[in-house]
Amino acid sequence: MATVLSVSGSPSATSGTARLLRHLDERLIAQGHEVMALDVRTLPAEALLGADFAHPAIVRATALFAQADGVVIGTPVYKAAYAGLLKSLLDLLPQYALAGKTVLPLATGGSTAHVLAIDYALRPVLASMGPAHVTPGWFTLDKDITVGEDGTLTVAPGSAEALAQVTDRFSAALGGRTTLLAAAG
Ligand SMILES: Cc1cc2nc3c(=O)[nH]c(=O)nc-3n(C[C@H](O)[C@H](O)[C@H](O)COP(=O)(O)O)c2cc1C
Repeated sequence: MATVLSVSGSPSATSGTARLLRHLDERLIAQGHEVMALDVRTLPAEALLGADFAHPAIVRATALFAQADGVVIGTPVYKAAYAGLLKSLLDLLPQYALAGKTVLPLATGGSTAHVLAIDYALRPVLASMGPAHVTPGWFTLDKDITVGEDGTLTVAPGSAEALAQVTDRFSAALGGRTTLLAAAG
């Protein structure tokens, strides 16, 4: 079993990205992982915008990253890249905050024109933070995510299948790491 931090970088109060992450959290939990959720929008804006590394909320968020074996990073695509809110937190983390960790990058967006935003924008930022492994990510079109009146999330079949596959690959990579750590201990 691994500890996973699932981070949504959307500023939206009704974020489809955050809902999608919480949906995938359930799959990871069912596979035996412990999942901690972090919505960057809940962190104090003055700390994020004022580069207040010592703010207790930033210190707590940094500790969550340190605790995790694996990190899911979810962001809406804004202006052909990741959301600035996500970057405002990543900028406050230690340079190698992802050292030794397995990372799953996910994005949601309105246009397939920006399907590569994960690879050309997000992946280099994550790679600079020293992860052991960035597993294949997935871009989900916002129209493929629907939320029912009762709050139930439905993902269009093609996207749901692809998301399940990348989540399972991430989970398997974590399992491998946990096994290696156990063997080393
Ligand atoms: C300010 C803004 C800029 C956006 N820019 C893009 C974009 O460049 N490319 C794209 O595919 N979608 C773009 N979108 C659409 C969002 O990425 C998409 O609706 C996403 O699923 C929103 O996620 P959220 O509900 O988690 O915030 C933009 C949306 C907003 C509000």
